[in-house]
Amino acid sequence: MKIGILGSGNVAQALAKGFIAQGYSVTLGTRNPATLGDFVAANPAAAVTSPAEAAAFGHLLVLAVKGTVAQLVLSGVQEHLAGKVLIDTTDPIMDAPPVQGVLQFFTGPNDSLGERLQNKFPQVRVVKAFNSVGSAFMVNPQFAGGPPTMFIAGNDADMGAIEASRALEPLCQLWCLPGFLHNEWSHAFKLLK
Ligand SMILES: NC(=O)c1ccc[n+]([C@@H]2O[C@H](COP(=O)([O-])OP(=O)(O)OC[C@H]3O[C@@H](n4cnc5c(N)ncnc54)[C@H](OP(=O)(O)O)[C@@H]3O)[C@@H](O)[C@H]2O)c1
Repeated sequence: MKIGILGSGNVAQALAKGFIAQGYSVTLGTRNPATLGDFVAANPAAAVTSPAEAAAFGHLLVLAVKGTVAQLVLSGVQEHLAGKVLIDTTDPIMDAPPVQGVLQFFTGPNDSLGERLQNKFPQVRVVKAFNSVGSAFMVNPQFAGGPPTMFIAGNDADMGAIEASRALEPLCQLWCLPGFLHNEWSHAFKLLK
């Protein structure tokens, strides 16, 4: 399977390394491929190109850009979306500082970036995932308490609808709270039954 990752930051690089380790072919799409020289030198199996070329390359796509530009970036590659699954790692974080450690969102409680993207781009199947944990814990996370839960949502009978992103995206605020208050970033969520 070929995977096209839109973005080149922390999440894009962490997931690219994880996918490559599992044997997938990975291309990252960025506005500035030249800035990824060190990453490519350390990960020679990864290709880095433009967002449009990465979107054309991938059978499976990953969106790993700032939430404020998520729609803009998808608009720029929309001719390459049809029929594909898009793993949406984004959170709707405003360009504004946290309040008492709580990140500010540009969405409201009965709204989410995941469903906005699904509604705007119905030709792609949006799956919200990886948004509720730091990039260091996205691939084979090791915790003394055992493996954490990865919450996902998408329009599939087994997953619940993309509107469940309304519940998943605030987990980003909760995950970041101890970080902004106490500089503690080494934790993850687990669903107990
Ligand atoms: N960092 C985490 O631990 C973490 C965890 C869970 C979820 N998330 C979410 O995952 C997403 C990516 O986070 P990150 O930490 O990897 O971000 P990052 O390192 O800050 O990278 C930001 C990405 O956004 C793109 N971008 C920024 N401004 C843009 C613009 N004006 N036009 C087009 N692209 C633009 C950049 O594209 P270029 O490559 O073209 O510069 C870059 O790839 C965010 O939505 C974040 O909320 C992050």
